[in-house]
Amino acid sequence: MKKDKRIEREQGDVNTTDNRQKYWERNLSDDAKKWFDEDARYFLHQSLSTPVLNVLSRAQGIYIEDIDGKKYIDMHGNGVHNAGFNNPAVIEAVKKQLDEGMTFCPRRYTNIPAVKLAKKLAEITPDGLSRSLFCPGGSEAIEMALMLAKQVTHRFKTISFWDSFHGAGFGAASVGGEEHFSGGLGPMIPGAFRVEFPNYYRNPWGFSSQEDVDAECLRQIELVLKREPEMAAVLGEPISATPVIPSKRYWQGVKQLCEQYGALLIFDEIIEGFGRTGKMFACEHFVTPDILVLGKSFGGGLMPFAGIVTHDALNVCRHRSLGHYTHEKNALCSAAALAEIGYIEENNLVDHAAELGAYALGRLKKLSEKHRLIGHIAGLGLHIGIDLVTDRKTGARAIEEAEIIMFKCLEKGLSAKTIEGNILTLRPALIITRDEMDRAIDIIDEAIGEVEQGKKY
Ligand SMILES: Cc1ncc(COP(=O)(O)O)c(C=O)c1O
Repeated sequence: MKKDKRIEREQGDVNTTDNRQKYWERNLSDDAKKWFDEDARYFLHQSLSTPVLNVLSRAQGIYIEDIDGKKYIDMHGNGVHNAGFNNPAVIEAVKKQLDEGMTFCPRRYTNIPAVKLAKKLAEITPDGLSRSLFCPGGSEAIEMALMLAKQVTHRFKTISFWDSFHGAGFGAASVGGEEHFSGGLGPMIPGAFRVEFPNYYRNPWGFSSQEDVDAECLRQIELVLKREPEMAAVLGEPISATPVIPSKRYWQGVKQLCEQYGALLIFDEIIEGFGRTGKMFACEHFVTPDILVLGKSFGGGLMPFAGIVTHDALNVCRHRSLGHYTHEKNALCSAAALAEIGYIEENNLVDHAAELGAYALGRLKKLSEKHRLIGHIAGLGLHIGIDLVTDRKTGARAIEEAEIIMFKCLEKGLSAKTIEGNILTLRPALIITRDEMDRAIDIIDEAIGEVEQGKKY
């Protein structure tokens, strides 16, 4: 059976299409082709990663640069570049830490940067979140959050959301809502139930009010909580990756249900933390979770680092291991994280993300008046999505068109990613200026216009 294109491209553009082939033919120099071929020769291939798009030689500020010196505003950055790539303050902090010679910290010991970082998180995260645990990557951090929830509640079941991504590890993929990461693996971790995320634009029930969508989505959660008693946790991103932005009422309802049924609320802010949505943490728009999961930008865009922050009341697992990771208190990673947070604070990047995001959203909404391919624009801070459709009435996803727009943007110097096949997502470094944002929007405008005029790739 042929796979639904939306499902096939749930995480992004795929590397097997004719357009991808054309992109390579048109854009890879001989030098790039040589490294591209070697990459394809020596890496184990997996969907989305290999063969690659192009070969990079540098990442600086809001830009990535290919081996031929062409620069692209990076609207994706895998979510690590909140303070910009190779941020000087982060580099300086890491160099200083290297010079001081306290880098790796063996388990059973601690070090000053790690302690300072845990203290800093206790200060900047909301309402009583005060206890941290660190690990190398987001997937592991999600698994630590789940383990903590299971240990504390003495329950094992979880509720998460269809179409969500929480990491590629087995535990994280077990609660993710994308077939891409769990298909073909046989039974995943048991007790993982999924419900629908409150998508007001694409709600399958045809409701016209947000209240009705919220009520239906809360009904689904309560149904699972009732029929599958002993639920350990509800896990979700406060705002979806595309982004879909739920109402505050919805998350308040989820939190209330969690309290009623004795489940913990876990927020995955691996993408959305550290200013992305115009608040230091996205949960500040909604409710405070029991466990907050951080990652990506946490390592300053330089080091792999992630972690969880939770309430003092959940500090009850002395007899068990939650995340016994070799790099749990890595001093270099901690120094990078402290520098990143310091840079965000000193440069008011949270307010900047809120203001520039609102401006960009306004400009993009204006574009939707002239481009029939734009079905819907959504965003909060510098977390923005353009839902491209072939028919505004039906909302039919413009999957081929979105891919061509993405390649045209790349050729014009803008790197952006599509999710679910047709949603062009814009998540630039938070240091992007208004002029640079204008340039990015101009490129998107041109690319959409060319596709609408029938220019094929
Ligand atoms: C929302 C979300 N959660 C978790 C992860 C997993 O993080 P990592 O790749 O560091 O394991 C990602 C990575 O893309 C993510 O976007």
